[in-house]
Amino acid sequence: MNWKELRPQLDQLLAEKRTLKDTLSTSCLLLNQLPHWDWVGYYIAQPSSRTLHLGPYLGAPTDHTVIPYGRGICGQVAESEETYISDDVRQEGNYIACSISVRSELVAPIMVNGKFVAQLDIDSSALANFSKLDQEQAESFLRDLAQAFPISQWESLLTS
Ligand code: SME
Repeated sequence: MNWKELRPQLDQLLAEKRTLKDTLSTSCLLLNQLPHWDWVGYYIAQPSSRTLHLGPYLGAPTDHTVIPYGRGICGQVAESEETYISDDVRQEGNYIACSISVRSELVAPIMVNGKFVAQLDIDSSALANFSKLDQEQAESFLRDLAQAFPISQWESLLTS
């Protein structure tokens, strides 16, 4: 699977107007088809407590269901609100290991009207699995995903 084949599937998913939760879950299934996108999941922001909460995901279960802003790659992205790619997580000073087989990671924020609401987290068992193209395409999909639902739905994800 490559982006050229995948992007129409992601567009189709958004056009189906499923619930936000269902859309997130199904997008994990689709994104998991990319080479070595082994663990694909979303963390949802809780700005009042400055914590990230595990949302829909596909892959091995993780103990890290709640991550404070600032901790690990996910927590850093919650603060920077910028995509982060680690080519080799073993070189990271601030990293939370979910599985010892993970080698590279991509975390991209989801912004709705300039507000950080969630993030996409991808773990790969391959070193340096994520390219500039992956970053651009993931960010492009996340922009469309963000726009497809009102902010109220993003903000009620943790309670619905
Ligand atoms: N590795 C992440 C934690 C989340 S797990 O990969 C699912 C981090 O350093 O923030």
